Amino acid sequence: MKAKLILNKDFEVGIIDERIYGSFIEHLGRAVYNGIYEPTHETSDNQGFRKDVTDLVKKLNVPIVRYPGGNFVSGYNWEDGTGDKNKRPRRPELAWRTIETNEVGIDEFQEWAKRAGSQVMQAVNLGTRGPEEARQLLEYCNFPKGTYYSDLRRANGFEEPFGIKVWCLGNEMDGPWQICAKTAEEYGRIACETAKVMKELDPTVELVACGSSNLWMPSFGKWEATVLEHTYKYVDYLSLHNYYNNTAEDTPTFLACSLEMDKFIKSVVAICDYVKAVKHSDKTINLSFDEWNVWFHSNEQDKKLEPWTVAPHQLEDVYTFEDALVVGCLLITLLKNCDRVKMACLAQLVNVIAPIMTENGGAAWAQTIFYPFMHASNYGRGTALTPVVICDKYSTGKVKDIPYVETIGVLNEEKTALTIFAVNRSLEEQVDLVIDLSDFVNAKLIEHLVLEHLNLKAVNTATDPDNVVPHLNGITKVDREEAVATLNKHSWNVIRFAI
Ligand code: AHR
Repeated sequence: MKAKLILNKDFEVGIIDERIYGSFIEHLGRAVYNGIYEPTHETSDNQGFRKDVTDLVKKLNVPIVRYPGGNFVSGYNWEDGTGDKNKRPRRPELAWRTIETNEVGIDEFQEWAKRAGSQVMQAVNLGTRGPEEARQLLEYCNFPKGTYYSDLRRANGFEEPFGIKVWCLGNEMDGPWQICAKTAEEYGRIACETAKVMKELDPTVELVACGSSNLWMPSFGKWEATVLEHTYKYVDYLSLHNYYNNTAEDTPTFLACSLEMDKFIKSVVAICDYVKAVKHSDKTINLSFDEWNVWFHSNEQDKKLEPWTVAPHQLEDVYTFEDALVVGCLLITLLKNCDRVKMACLAQLVNVIAPIMTENGGAAWAQTIFYPFMHASNYGRGTALTPVVICDKYSTGKVKDIPYVETIGVLNEEKTALTIFAVNRSLEEQVDLVIDLSDFVNAKLIEHLVLEHLNLKAVNTATDPDNVVPHLNGITKVDREEAVATLNKHSWNVIRFAI
């Protein structure tokens, strides 16, 4: 098959906000305990953080990490996780039916984030709690000194404020599974009042209101409009969450789920702009896609979990090679919408539906999905160029007109490198992708990285961590104004040019 990609340096989607390469750590399963934190592990530092895990996180170059939930946050008392570790309460945690020891909390997570080179995206509890507790938490984190909560932080050993910039106003408040779920009216009101007091205390913060828990929620659309009608003046972003699965064992359809993500984003943009018009506002609300990933492998296993244990093996999806292709398509889709998607969080980061896995007391390794994320996060910064793609399409019983090639070009900030990300969705055929370089004459190939495997279900494990890893032997031939990249069947490709 042949396909063509035309790029022009003046045709931009937009400047990529690096925070679209965010991720997420929830107090859930082994994300925190025996994930990032395991004081008895041989690589752990003086605060109990595993260095082997932090090193892998650093390779992903994650600028922002959402914390502490997720569903967990809707029942969380943030004070439980501060002060003397020996006095912290053990509590039954209702969202995931585990025991929370509170050994790690707000203070420790700040310390971990520093080690990982990340900012924290802090979520507040709008389930069992409300505006006052959110305000107190903000005072604890960001107020310099001389007030009750800022002085409590200082007494706990943190003289300097944490300076947390991005705050999520609750989590998935439309979901019946959420602790103290709300109607759109109820949530809109409480989110508005919480936002007001938070911005009053610290006008520099950026606030994210909850959108729908996924595209298929019965209240989708109306939820977004109602919430924004209440909060428009005070919030900066609206959240989107969506997880994708191949429970139907239908890979051609699964590979097309990024088209659904694209539709979801465009629908939410339209709703934000509808409320903008209705309010005659000059302000634009952007999007925070702060939970996205593939999630389904662990569903059956999780039904058998014993409740009320500490750090169970929960939501531990073992990702296949085809999942990595899907993650690649989803990353390209976020880039294609970077004019409005300013933040996004791969959910999650360690052990829980994550690119990084650990054994208790043992190894840490990269899952298949680690690689497309690492490539995009490291090479996909700068300006996203509008991709004009000419290629064949296929249809399945469920989705029509799926392009075989999903692709985008990114110009780095210094305008010295052009990177093309491309997935060939065909399960049978190689695609020769002709890249029109007439706007980048004399571009020189730096490398063509490929992630491929003959077995779509191939995985990485503790004993075979390098079963699915990228190689550098991709073939791209460059002529003066054109390059031809060979995209092997079902492959993820990163083609980098010096320009
Ligand atoms: O990421 C796992 C869970 O998925 C989160 O806690 C919740 O927000 C979503 O439903």
